Amino acid sequence: MRLLNVVGARPQFVKLAPVCRAIDAYNREHSGAPIENVILHTGQHYDPGLSDVFFEELEIPRPDVALGVGSGSHGQQTGKMLQAIEEYLLKDPLDAVVVYGDTNSTIAAALAAVKLHIPVVHVEAGLRSFNRRMPEEINRIATDHISDLLLAPTPTAMNNLRDEQLGERTRFTGDVMLDAIRFNREIARRRSQATERLGLETKRYAVATVHRAENTDGPRLLQVMDALARVATAGLPIVLPLHPRTSNKIRLELPNWRAPEALQIIEPLGYLDMLRIVDGASMVLTDSGGLQKEAFFLGKPCITMRDETEWVETVEGHGNVVTGVDCAAISRAVESWKQRIDAGTPDLSAGIKAGFGDGDAATKTVAAIKDFLASTAQAR
Ligand code: UD1
Repeated sequence: MRLLNVVGARPQFVKLAPVCRAIDAYNREHSGAPIENVILHTGQHYDPGLSDVFFEELEIPRPDVALGVGSGSHGQQTGKMLQAIEEYLLKDPLDAVVVYGDTNSTIAAALAAVKLHIPVVHVEAGLRSFNRRMPEEINRIATDHISDLLLAPTPTAMNNLRDEQLGERTRFTGDVMLDAIRFNREIARRRSQATERLGLETKRYAVATVHRAENTDGPRLLQVMDALARVATAGLPIVLPLHPRTSNKIRLELPNWRAPEALQIIEPLGYLDMLRIVDGASMVLTDSGGLQKEAFFLGKPCITMRDETEWVETVEGHGNVVTGVDCAAISRAVESWKQRIDAGTPDLSAGIKAGFGDGDAATKTVAAIKDFLASTAQAR
């Protein structure tokens, strides 16, 4: 069985790592023909701090194919990937193509494969924000509808897929990002010096990130940056590892905006450093999907600076509030979390189990792919 795993953006490297480990474990534990694990990196993320460091720290095998597509408009970027992945698949047909999450790399690979009648497996299927202005929402919907096997991380994702008549192609695995956190939390505590390096006092600071197009490409950028500045100066120091898209936008659109001292803006961090500073924080403010979950898995309260979330289990599990970018709403949420934290560390474990599975999603992913390919081979 030859699988092509297609990744390109930072969160996809995190999701790929546990799947690679599960494939290795499968090959060790089963005699007979091994699963061959081929990795294609589209090059959507190319900065060493957004790409190489993840492969090193998460011990992901070097990509077999690197397309080096780079940045561009949605059409340009997706189009270049589609063309290049198709060329690769025509030369080297595989048994299945595995795609992750909701980026332009995801939809490009799914589209290239399905047109060549190669089965497509979607890891992290069924997420919906119901906001069609998000590029990720379009990527998710389109990818789910052209994929052959849909691996859902949460019960809500299962329901969404059933509602779209995709239930028969769907399996529940739980979330591979939970596997990644469980595997790496202790490693990060041992190896990362990020809290010391950044002068952070345990549980006396917050971690923030901002990169979503809806927050960076328009008037919300100033709102969100001002809100973070306000929270930081009001007594909760914030460290903000900033995605290059956001730094570029601030330089261009807000040339006179300056961060106060209590809002520490730094370069993007690698996986272990990020895990370490979230693990030591009192709370998280973000517009990222992955970080909402990582905060939840680490038992850290989260404020989601968006108008909706796909990760409703984090809200239902009492670990996340969705505020939008209104400064007053964000400040109120910070105060309310502070009071709850003062009353005792929140225990989010029941919500994690109910929402995201048992931390063995990667093993279930590999088993589901094996079963699926065995059943389609029989049907042929
Ligand atoms: C992409 C995903 C988003 C995901 C995010 C994780 C899509 C539509 N969006 O958004 O779902 O949450 O990755 O980070 O696929 N840039 C660099 N260096 C890089 C990569 C990007 O400087 O290595 C800058 C460029 O100016 C580029 C901009 O960031 O134009 C946006 O990058 P892009 O890959 O298009 O989208 P992300 O915002 O990273």
